[in-house]
Amino acid sequence: MFEGASNFAKGVDGAFLFILAISFFFLIGLSAVMIWFMIRYNRKKHPKAEQIKDNMKLEVAWTIIPFLIVMLMFYYGYVVFKPMRIVPKDAMEVNVTGMMWSWKFEYANGKITNELVLPVGKAVKLNLFSPDVIHSLYIPAFRIKEDLVPGKENYMWFIPNIEGSYEILCAEYCGLRHSFMEAKTRIVTDEEFQKWLAEPTPIAEEDKGLAILQNNACISCHSLDGSKLVGPTFKGLFGTERTVIEAGKERIVVADSAYIKRAILEPDKEIVKGYNPGMMRAYDKVITADDIKSIIAYFESQSKLPK
Ligand code: CUA
Repeated sequence: MFEGASNFAKGVDGAFLFILAISFFFLIGLSAVMIWFMIRYNRKKHPKAEQIKDNMKLEVAWTIIPFLIVMLMFYYGYVVFKPMRIVPKDAMEVNVTGMMWSWKFEYANGKITNELVLPVGKAVKLNLFSPDVIHSLYIPAFRIKEDLVPGKENYMWFIPNIEGSYEILCAEYCGLRHSFMEAKTRIVTDEEFQKWLAEPTPIAEEDKGLAILQNNACISCHSLDGSKLVGPTFKGLFGTERTVIEAGKERIVVADSAYIKRAILEPDKEIVKGYNPGMMRAYDKVITADDIKSIIAYFESQSKLPK
């Protein structure tokens, strides 16, 4: 439990144990005093209750001592927290986007992944963005957590110092599939990292399409396996007929490339029957024309597959 996988682990664990020890001291101490008072001052031994008023020494003591203890806890926490906000100049930067409900990691060379791969022993700065609601990037093994706030650029930094694979979680309740918002961080040698970084991302058009759907968290609301989420599933979408409601009128459309394009650019215009409007924002500024081509290629490739 107390093996530190990052440069901050030791300090955070120290502050935690310090506060935990104080809590235990008072839990045990206060319980013992209470039990002793129950015995010492019960009605048989002490039939007549007494009122004690105004003991200056006692009141000063029980104000100053807790104040000092609380300030000590604050100091300990602050000393550990301070360096977390001061990023070393040579830190490698990775842009992290947390969205409903997935993580996207973008490296300086343009590589985009759903897994955070980092070299061991090197400082890394994560620039944190959110396009929708507040998320929180939490890597328990590294003892770090920081919010991703829409409209505000936030950051965190650390040095991973043990190779291995660790869990990344979202620690801010962000809606229906908050608990599914997880990813992995893989800490590898610098050599492995450089090799991995240089590998290009998938090239096939349909793979690209799937990656776009994943990177933009489309599949968090539109399942790939046929299950019903906030929006209709992508399974078996291409070429099928579906009933939509446009301006209050029901009609049947074929899910062809034009339909898919409309659904991405103006999602609220035609609503598939049985679903609610206003659940999806227009992606006209996020998804390019090329992206749409890749997405359609992906849907097409899926429709050719045996069911
Ligand atoms: Cu994102 Cu919880």
